Amino acid sequence: MMETGHPNTTKSKMPIDYSYFINALSSRRRPGITRELTKKLYNAPKETISLAEGMPNDGSFPFEAINVVLKDGSSYTLQGGELAASLQYLPSQGYPPLLKTLKEFTKYVHEPPNWRNTDVIITNGSQCGISKSIEMCIEEGCPILVQNPLYSGTEVVMKPFKPTLLPIDQDDLGVIPAHLVATLEQWKEKCTADPTIKMPKMFYVNPTAANPTGTTIPVDRKKEIYKICCDYNILILEDDAYYFMDFQDSKPVSFLSLDVEGRVLRFDSLSKVLASGLRMGWVTGPKQLIHNIELHIQSAYLHSSSLSQSITNNIFRVWGFDKMLEHFASVSNFYRIRRDLTISAMERHLKGLCDWSIPSGGMFVWIKVRNVPDVYEMLMTRGLKKHVCFAPGQAFMTDPAAACNYVRAAYSRASPKQIDKAMRLLAELIREEQQLLRRKLDNFI
Ligand SMILES: Cc1ncc(COP(=O)(O)O)c(C=O)c1O
Repeated sequence: MMETGHPNTTKSKMPIDYSYFINALSSRRRPGITRELTKKLYNAPKETISLAEGMPNDGSFPFEAINVVLKDGSSYTLQGGELAASLQYLPSQGYPPLLKTLKEFTKYVHEPPNWRNTDVIITNGSQCGISKSIEMCIEEGCPILVQNPLYSGTEVVMKPFKPTLLPIDQDDLGVIPAHLVATLEQWKEKCTADPTIKMPKMFYVNPTAANPTGTTIPVDRKKEIYKICCDYNILILEDDAYYFMDFQDSKPVSFLSLDVEGRVLRFDSLSKVLASGLRMGWVTGPKQLIHNIELHIQSAYLHSSSLSQSITNNIFRVWGFDKMLEHFASVSNFYRIRRDLTISAMERHLKGLCDWSIPSGGMFVWIKVRNVPDVYEMLMTRGLKKHVCFAPGQAFMTDPAAACNYVRAAYSRASPKQIDKAMRLLAELIREEQQLLRRKLDNFI
């Protein structure tokens, strides 16, 4: 379906030892016997009598049928055995029909070259997969490579482990490979000088329409980054929550589709393209790592919502992959129109006050404010008084305590009229802030 262009990995290498990535805590996880039974009994012959599982009797549930009506007029009804399955406990890896669908869909979209050693697990949104994966690999105080700025939901997972975040700079095409190498080489020198220091094992990257910058990494750059990660034995955490919301003509080539070695954990999300409240996401990656994530999910919440999984599976069934992708494309187009009108509003109000790049997808524009070294107070105190709210750049930095002159604007929900007004108010705020700073400086002199 897509032109993947796998990177040339010239050296033939030893297979990856995944135990290198799994921390001591995670390596001690063992399957719960009753959870394993649930998995086995799901596919057992019909005549099997089970008194093994602690499942409630679904006959006691008060639901008779659930009708789902889609905006395009198609509909389906969950009833009988399917309704019972949609309301009952499930194996931790996911609702088997949906798991099969998502595996086929992932293969269809990404054509992963290492599919034989790859597995999938369904998660409560991609955030759940991201956090379980980080918690599988992280060690207290360890170094982690992250694109900077980064999605704040990742930083909050890492922070309690007091890691050393190694920020990798981005330009208009996302993460800069040369900076990745320079950072790794500098860190290697530290490791040589002090053998107690370890090399980073993970690189968190949000490659498509990134939150907050809106940048998409082109395939050539991805190949360079992938090669670097192979050379330094790094696991790529590919958070691609906006994969289907890239506005460019050709669909992005994912790290998963370049992954000949099996060093990518990919996080997909249906939050932005189906419904965020369904909490539907899935992780794709090396079998051993997926199995460890499954053990964590078993112990944390047994499995993701059965009803959400069943609803999602039925939308795939009713629409098929192509109609589903058509729907995603229409959502993407909705946001592209929003992006364009937001940029027009910014050109009307913010010219000379701010700089920005045009987002290549997603829901955000990342705005650099001129002559205001720190936007925090301006937005959080004076902005809220004017009844306008933007996210201060600090929220997305590896060091949120440092001064930051960036603002993130989400153009997803406000109406076009409200977006125009918000940009006008931001311009007002910036002018006032610049005046305030000038006055402070005059008084100081
Ligand atoms: C970059 C990024 N990754 C992951 C997520 C989490 O999404 P989900 O709703 O799938 O948990 C978000 C949510 O905004 C995000 O922006």
